[in-house]
Amino acid sequence: MDKKVTVIGAGNVGATAAQRLCEKELCDVVLIDIVEGVPQGKALDLTEAAPVEKHDAKLTGSNDYAPSEGSDIVIITAGIPRKPGMSRDDLINTNAGIVKNVTEQVVKYSPNATLIIVSNPLDAMCHVAYAASGLPKNKVIGMAGVLDSARFRAFIAMELDVSVENTHAFVLGGHGDTMVPLPRYSTVAGIPITELMSEERIDALVKRTANGGAEIVSLLKTGSAYYAPASSAVEMAESILKDKKKVLPCAALLQGEYGYNDLFIGVPVKLGSDGIEDIIEIKLTDAEKTALQKSADSVEELKKTLKGLGY
Ligand code: APR
Repeated sequence: MDKKVTVIGAGNVGATAAQRLCEKELCDVVLIDIVEGVPQGKALDLTEAAPVEKHDAKLTGSNDYAPSEGSDIVIITAGIPRKPGMSRDDLINTNAGIVKNVTEQVVKYSPNATLIIVSNPLDAMCHVAYAASGLPKNKVIGMAGVLDSARFRAFIAMELDVSVENTHAFVLGGHGDTMVPLPRYSTVAGIPITELMSEERIDALVKRTANGGAEIVSLLKTGSAYYAPASSAVEMAESILKDKKKVLPCAALLQGEYGYNDLFIGVPVKLGSDGIEDIIEIKLTDAEKTALQKSADSVEELKKTLKGLGY
């Protein structure tokens, strides 16, 4: 393949993302992890599936970063997932160190890569990766809104018994309990869901979306969601690799947009070969602005925690 994507962390999210990338024949894939044998074993296993799945993407597993050289995109999933009773924010101590360390190694070999951050707490980890990478702000993007919107879309489709393909949804803000699903901008075949469901049902779906990650954690008990997170990261990667210019909700560094400065938070962005090519500012109602402010406040709190930890 003429494109190369490195996935850091060969665990649940990373290995699933690697599988989707190669099965869609988007790129060659390098899988990196600190645990010896795991990235090599998973890369070989996926290579052996290739004849059956009918793709010619090359897979490499490694514990060092040399094979990642010249990657177009690096997806960072390294870190610990949460367990029942934990919030994403509880991971900050451990994952900040891991994300800083892997980002520094990534940019040594791929100084022009676009980074897609998946490790949690997402918005805070974007700040860590941005600082550690020295990359321009359009090249550091957080995966959260695509996942949160996909969850909202799945629940809308289930509720109305319609095709998921007919659904669109927008979720703004930080990737946590304070995320801001926007029913006004969420549609079925272009029809706002506010025309199709009672306020009560919309509220229930909004709550389930905000709690979507925790719902999966409480079912799995040993880790967190990975199929939908991997799909979401791959949709972002595809838009960048193919320069599709999809408009997707992603965590981006705001410098004045929506009235915020130096803050990573989920907003609609255009993703193309240059990473974030545009941040789209949509008009918000007063209630939506208040909800976004609450979400921004919680990311600011995490920034303070990071500072306290020396990041
Ligand atoms: N360098 C490389 N890989 C690392 C490092 C490191 N410094 N530290 C940990 N890892 C690897 C682990 O060895 C493991 O294989 O990261 C992988 C994480 O995989 P899982 O434990 O299966 O976690 P996963 O479900 O994939 O979630 C990863 O994404 O969605 C977020 O909250 C989630 O922060 C978590 C991350």
